Amino acid sequence: MPTLYDPFSPEVVADPFPYYARLRDEAPVHPVAKRLWAVSRYDDVSNVLRSPVFSSSATRLMMMGGLESRMQADEATLRKERRRVQRELGLGPRGTEEGWNENSLISLDPPQHDLVRNIVNRGFTPRRIARLAPRIREIAEGLVDDIMARGDELDLSVDYSTPLPVRVMAELLGVDPGDADDFKRWSDVVISGVTGDMAVEGPAPLLRTLDELGAYFLEVVEQRRREPRDDLISVLVAAEDNETLSAVETVNFATLLLAAGNETTMHLIDNAMLALLGHPKQQQQVVAEPKLVPGLVEETLRWDGPVQIAFREATRDVEIAGTLIPKGDIAIALFGSANRDDRQFPDGERFDIFRDTQGHMGFGFGVHFCLGASLARLEAQIALETLLARLPNLRRGSGEIERFDSFLVRGPTHLPLRYDAPGA
Ligand code: HEM
Repeated sequence: MPTLYDPFSPEVVADPFPYYARLRDEAPVHPVAKRLWAVSRYDDVSNVLRSPVFSSSATRLMMMGGLESRMQADEATLRKERRRVQRELGLGPRGTEEGWNENSLISLDPPQHDLVRNIVNRGFTPRRIARLAPRIREIAEGLVDDIMARGDELDLSVDYSTPLPVRVMAELLGVDPGDADDFKRWSDVVISGVTGDMAVEGPAPLLRTLDELGAYFLEVVEQRRREPRDDLISVLVAAEDNETLSAVETVNFATLLLAAGNETTMHLIDNAMLALLGHPKQQQQVVAEPKLVPGLVEETLRWDGPVQIAFREATRDVEIAGTLIPKGDIAIALFGSANRDDRQFPDGERFDIFRDTQGHMGFGFGVHFCLGASLARLEAQIALETLLARLPNLRRGSGEIERFDSFLVRGPTHLPLRYDAPGA
């Protein structure tokens, strides 16, 4: 059967939802390419994510290697190619995907996963997250001040949604806010494995970046060991009951946070605004009643979430919805499709900030449920409240909306808007 879903086609990147709908109706477990299966219904996605038969080690391989190259070459060939590029660039062990991935939370399975997660959880307590609220508000207000100083046009993505999480991340990690530009550059490259860039440019930019940011974070870790502060890195390296992350693990975790935290939260803010632009009545309602913002954030996570996909590898032959996924093959759990499944969310294709979104998979599901969910919610809520309160009548501006070229992360890179400047 020809595939009903090609994650690389520009049509799917632009609007995957009609493809998901066909998958759910016609082929809920569908072969996408060699060794790769798309799973699209809510119940089946949750089974894959719950089942100990499926391993998360695939996440690392898929994300670091670029799905496209993974599908074309075997693991050993890709590794050899990386080593060659690494030697050519004269990089040390930090620039290897093995180095980057040592005990990386997102690709570990239980019980090792739970051990690392328990340690990093210490840095994400509700108190620690809530304490960031005033600073997030200050950052949001400052960005709106800058926008207003420039006139009545803005690129929401560039001027607001991108810098906000990057600055919050610097705050959380406790590093110099002046390094935020490097953070953004690094996080863009770290996630290049899930974008079109990897296919075009090969692994050299990724390996070089891993080396550079590895050196940066290693120095921060060493400083915090000598002189702990009240920040995430100090919490992670502080021994507690002899449970602590090694220096390399801490560096890897910080690297993961850059990609997992920055390249997602920015798209949540943009996707919420895009959804409102397409639903003007709901836009008016939420502008009039800021207490509707949390509903807007949850419905955006369900209807047009920034993370569309997770990968899981079958550790033995396993049947999902009557289809055999052979041992070693990979299931693509389509969160974006599960979230619109009418079997779970009545009239799932309809955007409605008043609906019950309980159980949406915008932050994933199961043991890997997003560690940063409460921080992302807080950031998006404050960002949207501030934006809608201060810039009334936001609407499409001149210029095209451009989308991030990725099969995994969904959102715009340019979102031109205009608003009525006060007194205009
Ligand atoms: C709107 C913003 C965000 C979205 C949509 C999102 C989504 C997700 C999803 C779907 C997963 C599960 C991946 C899987 O099952 O393979 C995940 C995991 C994760 N997220 Fe987020 N995320 C967001 C923001 C953040 C932030 C702000 C942070 C940290 C500051 C963060 C840190 C993580 C980490 C560390 C994991 C791995 C957890 C584990 O493996 O146990 N995320 N996220």
